Amino acid sequence: MSKSSPAPAARSHAGGPLSGIARAPGDKSISHRAIILGAMASGTTQITGLLEGADIISTAGAMRAFGADITRSDDGTWTVTGVGPAGLSAPKSDIDCGNAGTGVRLIMGAASAYPITASYIGDASLSVRPMGRVVDPLREMGVAAAGAPGDRLPMIITGTPDLKPLRYAPPHASAQVKSAILLAGLGATGITEVREAHKTRDHTENMLRAFGCPVETIDNGDGQIVRLTGPAALTGTRVIVPGDPSSAAFLMVAALIVPGSDIIIENVMMNPTRTGLFETLTEMGGSIQADNFKTSGGEVIADIRVRYSKLHGIVVPPRRAPSMIDEYPILCMAAAVANGETVMDGIEELRVKESDRIAATMAILQSAGVKARETKTGMIVTGSPAPRGGGLITTHHDHRIAMSALILGLVCDNPMEIDDAAMIATSFPDFFDMMQTLGADITQTENSA
Ligand code: S3P
Repeated sequence: MSKSSPAPAARSHAGGPLSGIARAPGDKSISHRAIILGAMASGTTQITGLLEGADIISTAGAMRAFGADITRSDDGTWTVTGVGPAGLSAPKSDIDCGNAGTGVRLIMGAASAYPITASYIGDASLSVRPMGRVVDPLREMGVAAAGAPGDRLPMIITGTPDLKPLRYAPPHASAQVKSAILLAGLGATGITEVREAHKTRDHTENMLRAFGCPVETIDNGDGQIVRLTGPAALTGTRVIVPGDPSSAAFLMVAALIVPGSDIIIENVMMNPTRTGLFETLTEMGGSIQADNFKTSGGEVIADIRVRYSKLHGIVVPPRRAPSMIDEYPILCMAAAVANGETVMDGIEELRVKESDRIAATMAILQSAGVKARETKTGMIVTGSPAPRGGGLITTHHDHRIAMSALILGLVCDNPMEIDDAAMIATSFPDFFDMMQTLGADITQTENSA
């Protein structure tokens, strides 16, 4: 290694099959929403299974700064005492949302109907992500927002009790945009409506209903209209957070690609707005069997058995993208060892996630010697039975890029290394322990933060 190369923070090696039982960590999307809605509501909200990842801790810190009381008891239950009709109060310091796009965008919406000013900041990754997609519709509703060039953080937003309702058709398929508008609409008098050309995850709608706010959904094939009437009050409730299918995805792909593996992942949410990857991997020949279905906290959950499978490339239908938008990097690691080409298109949104995930995924694959190319709106990966591996991957503060590179290392001739493992804790704090328990040779180095 040259003197200027960064030291690796974690590495993975090929080894024996994975086996055993793992439990998916709490869903990140639902965890953010439980804290935010609980903080806005009257009374208390008790949350079990909350993801205790850095993103959610940032959101809890933010909502405390707006006046909510949020505590954790020793048994892992979180209690949020919301502000109710008194409304959110002006924070005394910057709202630091860390790495969390969902956190910052939903909170911006939630704070819109109050006569308070808040200054939003985030880490290096969040500070280059576009906020215009959220603040433009919020401006139409009446908030004043001023940010860094290109509507990036840091951003100062002043809300108004005279917020106007909005009927809006977002130009991107984005649950964050939909959710920000709906949360703002709670405090606007009249109908606020979001028309989605492609359905995105429906956790905000479901949770608003659980907090006592009627939300109408009109299905129109691929898309939907989501509507609520403000002003609407929320009442605290009990939230059971199901396991995150986006985190289960890493375990699942690891088991599919490491020869001889056979694992069970418990407690995985099966909401159809989130399970696009399961369908895709099954179409690629993956042995994925869901069993022991239960309904918990309004979501269907299941235990999933995943066995090593000989995968083949497919064309992933672009209309499936919203239901697996966070899973393309890890899908590409499966595609890297699949027989033939995997073609993914209609995923330009990946360019504005925690990193440019198309470019970052290409860098992993190319560094591992896998044939792959990017298009403006997609990726094409040609699998090879034994990738060379051997790269030190720049993760760009992106947890999913970090975990994807490490999973690929489990089937490469040479270890895969990453420059920074810290961000994995934003969504999957037990990733290393869980992978090791299943038998994977994935370790953090002494250079890890
Ligand atoms: C999320 C929505 C998606 C997803 C993100 C979580 C949410 O973002 O990528 O990880 O919880 O609403 P977009 O709304 O930008 O697609």
